[in-house]
Amino acid sequence: MSKIIRLPGLIDPHVHLREPGATQKEDFETGTKAAIAGGYTVVLDMPNNPIPTISPQALQEKIDLAKGRIYADVGFHFGASSKSIKYFTEVFSRVFGLKVYMNQTTGDLLMEDDQTLEAVFSAWPKDLPAGRQGKPILVHAEGETLQRAISLAKKFGSKLHVCHVSLEKEVELIKEAKANGLNLSCEVSCHHLFLTDEDAKRLGSFGIMNPPLSSREDQKALWEGIEDGTIDMIGSDHAPHTKEEKQGGKPPYGVPGLETTLPLLLTAVSDGKLTIERLIELTSTNPRKVFGIPEQEDTFVEVDMEESYVIENQNLQTKCSWTPFAGMQVTGKVKKVILRGKMVYDGKNIFGPYGRILP
Ligand code: DOR
Ligand code: ZN
Ligand code: ZN
Repeated sequence: MSKIIRLPGLIDPHVHLREPGATQKEDFETGTKAAIAGGYTVVLDMPNNPIPTISPQALQEKIDLAKGRIYADVGFHFGASSKSIKYFTEVFSRVFGLKVYMNQTTGDLLMEDDQTLEAVFSAWPKDLPAGRQGKPILVHAEGETLQRAISLAKKFGSKLHVCHVSLEKEVELIKEAKANGLNLSCEVSCHHLFLTDEDAKRLGSFGIMNPPLSSREDQKALWEGIEDGTIDMIGSDHAPHTKEEKQGGKPPYGVPGLETTLPLLLTAVSDGKLTIERLIELTSTNPRKVFGIPEQEDTFVEVDMEESYVIENQNLQTKCSWTPFAGMQVTGKVKKVILRGKMVYDGKNIFGPYGRILP
């Protein structure tokens, strides 16, 4: 059986392509091949590299490295640190958002003290020329920390984007902040929708990430948030690490996700948990609107809604060659990706590189 339908190219607002500085995990070529194989034609890259993206030079280095090597379109987020505030207005037009790490995680961009956080929220530009959209401050703010981020956004009139919502109480805080008129959007990572702390035991270090896998009740709240519109988009938080690193003494946090997100979401459609219209909003319409992503002409993805297969490590494009979803049966397969009129994926092979650096 086969039922081919066409989707717009997917947009992932949250990936870690690891270049420069950690190309044993991923690089611009392998990461954007993984994107294309997963149906993504736009990805936005995070700044927590070993040398973080907190200066115009570091941003330029990423742009130069990506040039001519990317299979999907790539945009960048800038990193917040006490040292990067002075560059905000200079880099503003070349990035899609400002990432603020309010909890400890991979990299050393953690910001905790009130004074620096206030300086960051105050300095990120808000007033834009007519017709141009504001660029969000993206926060990694787990649990109680989220309340702090919301208060800061309220105080400084910031457009706030909450990354990887994973807890019921976070969904509630967001619902309340939206009801109070705050300019706020949020994303859920695919792994929090399809795995729980029960899977964490089986997965060992391959199931650790920040924020961690949560309980069944939390997961239920995420799906409810998807249904009632509290959740605006789904990101992969594609955060590859090598198998060796994951099996080592101090395994790093993070899991890859670019190639598994769409098949898992299509499986949810097939199971009646999600409509295809909502899937399109969550993975394309809303991220495009929130981050002001330019339209891609003649760009689309063809999926077979009825083809079932088992996710296997050996079929992945990501350099890390593993996924926490290995062994899972999914229904819904990416068969073809067209980028600006060119076939870039035929269901098996990737063609290019035809990606562009955004904006
Ligand atoms: O699990 C995570 N991995 N969470 C983060 O916030 C960072 C990411 C990474 O870069 O590996
Ligand atoms: Zn994060
Ligand atoms: Zn991340």
